[in-house]
Amino acid sequence: MIEQDAELVFNRRIATSTFLMGLRSTGIAAEARPGQFVMLRVGQGMDPLLRRPFSICGTREHDLVLILYRVVGRGTGIMSRLGRGERLSVLGPLGRGFDMPGDRARSVLVAGGMGIAPLIFLARSAKGKALTLLAGFGTSGEIPPLGELGLGGIDLHISTDDGSAGKKGLVTALLRDLLLELESDRLEIFACGPLPMLKEVAAMSLKEDIPCQVSLEARMACGLGACQGCATRGASDRAGTYVHVCVDGPVFAAGALDWEAS
Ligand code: FES
Repeated sequence: MIEQDAELVFNRRIATSTFLMGLRSTGIAAEARPGQFVMLRVGQGMDPLLRRPFSICGTREHDLVLILYRVVGRGTGIMSRLGRGERLSVLGPLGRGFDMPGDRARSVLVAGGMGIAPLIFLARSAKGKALTLLAGFGTSGEIPPLGELGLGGIDLHISTDDGSAGKKGLVTALLRDLLLELESDRLEIFACGPLPMLKEVAAMSLKEDIPCQVSLEARMACGLGACQGCATRGASDRAGTYVHVCVDGPVFAAGALDWEAS
């Protein structure tokens, strides 16, 4: 784990309210694995006070760490206005990432919104594996240029809430259709997105007995297992067993979590 003031190399809008940032950190770029995250301090002084977690979207040229983010509030608004040459306090890489695709014939990556960020990193790191990416967005303008992000040629299926691109509806409907077509014992699933989506993906994978890893999005204050802010219920026979998303995850086997309590 590295803490440093990293130089911002680029920070550009690539879709509606969506930015791609490149930070120069040879150390973090060398250590980062798909599914891990960094904590960024996006303002100076006390405002905003806390670091925020961002999935690592990839690495480039051995020293760049890529962050894909959507402007949703004050902190990310400040981030979007930062320019080349500025410095950001960054801590990472943190957390437990994805176990890379194993010997199943096809890996199905299921992304909801900005949940696509760690799955882009996973897909780029799993070159040579048969991959299908199912990606859901609110509307067509939110879809990042996936070719530019290194996913040109991937087997891609899009859904949007308003039907402006791909199939109208939720990305889980795309997964349901795919599971009707393909033999489940040849598949493994990797998912990241909002909790309701992950619950549904987990339920489908557990029902079909398909290996499934999910990356949880959680509020995190410390990212280091110290504040208890990201605790969630783990699946266990013992009542009251909690896991910390920041250090035990953010990636978990679908069967390792108590989805009823989530
Ligand atoms: Fe503090 Fe996980 S964010 S314990």
